[in-house]
Amino acid sequence: MTGGTIGMGRAIVQALTDRGAEVVFTGRGDARLAEARAALDTPLAHPVRSDATDTTAIAALRDQVADRLGGVDYLFVNQGIAEFQTLEEVTEESWDRIFDVNTKGAFFTVQALAPLMAEGGSIVFTTVSNDRIFPGLSAYSAAKEAVTAFSKVLAAELLPRGIRVNALAPGFILTPTMGVAELSEEQRAEFVEQGNASTPMGRGGTVDEVAAAALYLAVDATFTTGVELPVDGGFGQGLGE
Ligand SMILES: NC(=O)c1ccc[n+]([C@@H]2O[C@H](COP(=O)([O-])OP(=O)(O)OC[C@H]3O[C@@H](n4cnc5c(N)ncnc54)[C@H](OP(=O)(O)O)[C@@H]3O)[C@@H](O)[C@H]2O)c1
Repeated sequence: MTGGTIGMGRAIVQALTDRGAEVVFTGRGDARLAEARAALDTPLAHPVRSDATDTTAIAALRDQVADRLGGVDYLFVNQGIAEFQTLEEVTEESWDRIFDVNTKGAFFTVQALAPLMAEGGSIVFTTVSNDRIFPGLSAYSAAKEAVTAFSKVLAAELLPRGIRVNALAPGFILTPTMGVAELSEEQRAEFVEQGNASTPMGRGGTVDEVAAAALYLAVDATFTTGVELPVDGGFGQGLGE
């Protein structure tokens, strides 16, 4: 489970450990990892510091997962960052930062960990409900759309090994960050309000609703591969417009 310290990632770890699964989860810093470990409060959850933008760290993660778990049944690739920047504001550095975390990190995590997976396993990427767009999220939307594209290619490549690959596409989900880097409390409140107004169900989703969808794709959806499942209260479906 990459990006498991807060928000949806932590809720997925919780849902897995509640069902008795042993889970390695990652984040970039020891403090947040320790906080998550304390909140999860189970010996089944193992924090590992690993930055998804660093392929050496991904290789070290693979070794630690192999040592600790032996193999991987389900791989959740959930880390992500979004930054609101208009066309004029995007810089080469911010573009690379967003693609490094969301896209490159996601791909090379799977390249490193897929060899540890056996037949019947599955991979779930967290993308974004991209059927309706947001001004200011060009790099982020493109980075996640790339993940959607390669998740389908990987579904085909891993088909012969009996490994399913799917994505879940959240809309507005009530996480501490709402998925956006360095959001102030005020901006977060504004974003929540916007989310309530633009989501057909009239509210943001909960992390538990996302975790339920993630576990469905990973565990129960045994006849489903190569799909992207929206978990967005109808946001991307054009309902009521
Ligand atoms: N919240 C929403 O409304 C929303 C909507 C659509 C899509 N999403 C996507 O859903 C996923 C989860 O979002 P969220 O809102 O629950 O939380 P988030 O604030 O977006 O963070 C997700 C996780 O990613 C980890 N992370 C970030 N950069 C990383 C890196 N370089 N290496 C390893 N881990 C890294 C964070 O851990 P540390 O900070 O501890 O490193 C955190 O555990 C993300 O991919 C996000 O883009 C969110």
